[in-house]
This record gives sequence, structure tokens and C-alpha cells, in this order.
Amino acid sequence: MLIESVRVTEQRVFQSLWEALAAHDRLTADHCKRVSEASYLLAKAGGLSEAEAIEAKYAGLMHDLGKIGIPEAILNKPAKLDPFEAKRMMGHPAWGEHILRPFAHLPLIAAILPAVRSHHERYDGAGYPDGLAGENIPLLGRIIAIVDTVDAMTQNRAYRKGLPLEVAYAEIARCSGTQFDPKWAAIYLESKNYVAETETKKAA
Ligand SMILES: [Fe+2]
Repeated sequence: MLIESVRVTEQRVFQSLWEALAAHDRLTADHCKRVSEASYLLAKAGGLSEAEAIEAKYAGLMHDLGKIGIPEAILNKPAKLDPFEAKRMMGHPAWGEHILRPFAHLPLIAAILPAVRSHHERYDGAGYPDGLAGENIPLLGRIIAIVDTVDAMTQNRAYRKGLPLEVAYAEIARCSGTQFDPKWAAIYLESKNYVAETETKKAA
């Protein structure tokens, strides 16, 4: 019988699930890699421990895993989603948690489940899937929400060019306290060049 460390098993699970996501939608998988790096950097910039920053890194890597359950035609639709499609799309955080849950006996996976589920919650309680507000939203979910937004806005799509980083930074500032945790939005905006430029370099 193969005996390997828990850490190695966790790495294999992450690699396998990421490869499955990449086979379904390469753009989303690459987005997850950039969000992973940026989440780690933001966690460190905010003074979290190395262990917590590593949780942020893997939570970022897996945050959109649930998009594996959404047809490519919806994921890459150049027009506005209809209500049925939007509902389907909004199911991805809970679906990602559902896919990961069988591995919840592994500590790192148990630690990231709440972040995967909560990365579309909003600080004002108007997000999904649970409508959590403020610090009831798991910390890693609040961190990912910020870097996810910046990457989504600045990323090139087949049907539109990504927006400049400055526009994304302005959005983080504008939505601080409504969509985003104001404390972590401020940390992001103070360290944004460090976080975003490292992220952009790695993605290049
Ligand atoms: Fe997402």
C-alpha cells in the first residue's frame, strides 16, 4: 500500500482538480492560479502567518473549482446571462465546496472549504450563496473577493480587452465597506503594486 504524507496527498488532490478544471475551461483555471498567488501575497501583506497565507493560496487556487459544473457556453457567453444562466453561474461556490468536501479529512482542504463557498459573499450581506455579512464571512473568502475582482476586471477575454489596473483599484476603493471588507481593501490598496505586479509577472 502506498503510504505518503498528508501534504503530498493534498498537493495531488489540488493538482488533479486543477487539471480537471483546466480541461473544462483553461481561462478559469489560469485565473485561479493568478488569484492563488495574489491571495497569498495579500494574506502576507496583511500580517497573516505563513500557514494562513498558504491556506489563502490554495483557497485561491480552488475558489472557482465549481465552474467545472457550468457549461462552457455560459462561462464564456459574451452577452448578459439570462436569469436561468445567472442562477446556474451563482451555484459555483457551493458546487466547488461540494466537490472538495469528500477530502475534508485533509487539514488544508478542511481549512479552505469555507473560503471556496464564501468568495462571492459581500461585506454588506448582499452576496451569495448564504448572504453572510461583515466578519461572519470567513476571512479567506473576504481576501479572495478582493483579488478575484481585480483579476476578473483586468483579464483579457475573447470578446473584450481587460481594463487597466487603475480602474480595478478604483473599483476596490469604491466598493470598500459594501462589497469588500474595508480593512482588507485598505491593505490591498496600500500593497497593490506589490500584489498585482507580482501576480501579473507570474501570469506573463
Ligand atoms: Fe467565483
